Amino acid sequence: MQPTTAPAPAAAAATVPPVLRLTDIEKVYQTKTIETTALNCVNIAINRGEFVSVMGPSGCGKSTLLSLMGLLDEPTRGTIEVDGRPVTSYSDRELAALRNLKIGFVFQSYHLINDLSVVDNVELPLLYRAGMGGKERRQRALAALDRVGLNARTGHFPGQLSGGQRQRVAIARALAGSPEIILADEPTGNLDSVMGEEIIELLLELNRRDGVTVVMVTHDEVQARKTERIIRFFDGNQVG
Ligand SMILES: Nc1ncnc2c1ncn2[C@@H]1O[C@H](COP(=O)(O)OP(=O)(O)O)[C@@H](O)[C@H]1O
Ligand SMILES: [Mg+2]
Repeated sequence: MQPTTAPAPAAAAATVPPVLRLTDIEKVYQTKTIETTALNCVNIAINRGEFVSVMGPSGCGKSTLLSLMGLLDEPTRGTIEVDGRPVTSYSDRELAALRNLKIGFVFQSYHLINDLSVVDNVELPLLYRAGMGGKERRQRALAALDRVGLNARTGHFPGQLSGGQRQRVAIARALAGSPEIILADEPTGNLDSVMGEEIIELLLELNRRDGVTVVMVTHDEVQARKTERIIRFFDGNQVG
């Protein structure tokens, strides 16, 4: 009998590209009066399932880095690849779909809409999902709120919640779309240490249990040391 030639699974696994790869990235902001180099020669690969912290002083380019990773802005030089494919090869429609399906954002100041209820806030990004009906939207939003421990607060409004609870709503909003990657920009920056700790534990659990890849900007060394890898910036340059 002839031996069959099946591909070796180990070899196939070794060739999986990073979920995000930034190569020789430069970002220059140009205004009328001043040119700012926010990022200079940045090289970062984020693998699927990693939890990476980004640290550095204010103004060193951390938020710029996250907006490039989230495909919200374009670098002035260098390439960004998602799953091994340069983003410049995606059409506008494909890029919009990538942003909406693959990436969830969490911000320091929550970015919730105050006159929408908690569950309506969480549903909001799902309105842009083609083919998703109202029933599925609601189900997903409620499941995400359950995941962050807020199932008793779905009818509340953001103003009726603590800072930590608001950030949980924002995390639920990111989760509702089942993203592969969560990009969190100083998610505990407005919280006291107890609430901040809860948010970090939640992100760690989402990473470990649900396999979500997380890139988190933080000023807190203790928080950062809980993650697998720390990328450090100073003045637009990667220093570690
Ligand atoms: N839209 C923008 N236009 C002009 N300059 C900007 C813009 N966004 C950020 N910058 C500048 O780029 C640098 C990096 O900013 P940022 O990425 O927000 O840093 P960080 O998040 O580390 O505090 C800063 O000097 C900031 O003033
Ligand atoms: Mg910032």
